[in-house]
Amino acid sequence: MATILLLNGPNLNTLGQREPSIYGATTLKQIEKAVGDLAREAGHQVQCFQSNSEGDMVDWLHKHNKADFLLINAGAYTHTSVALRDAILAIKIPFIEIHISNVHAREAFRGKSYLADIAVGIISGLGPMGYELATSYALDKLKSGA
Ligand code: DQA
Repeated sequence: MATILLLNGPNLNTLGQREPSIYGATTLKQIEKAVGDLAREAGHQVQCFQSNSEGDMVDWLHKHNKADFLLINAGAYTHTSVALRDAILAIKIPFIEIHISNVHAREAFRGKSYLADIAVGIISGLGPMGYELATSYALDKLKSGA
């Protein structure tokens, strides 16, 4: 059984209420359930964590350094955090960077990512479905042993 990590950063605990015209009505709980269900159907497990604190996210990654794949929406820390980039490099787990909104269609500062060039891939602008698509990709890679 493989372990997929699902890590969400600042303000994503407010999904469903937060700027619904940008982020929609789906809650983080619903996203975590959808990702967990997909992984379980494939015989794998998901560990979820959300934090509004950069240091807590770094600590959580260190603690889960034996996992097989990481799905991360680092929220605003995507655009600012060398510490998160270094934490992911330290644990050496392949990951997909996810954004609910299309960060390239918004303010210019959202076009900068400290994670993108070290990610397996990026999904941005496909809404909450992006998490499920990323999960399907991870499951496919786990199946093929890559
Ligand atoms: C986000 C995009 C970020 O720019 C923003 O700071 C977020 C959410 C997204 O999912 O679209 O908090 O990562």
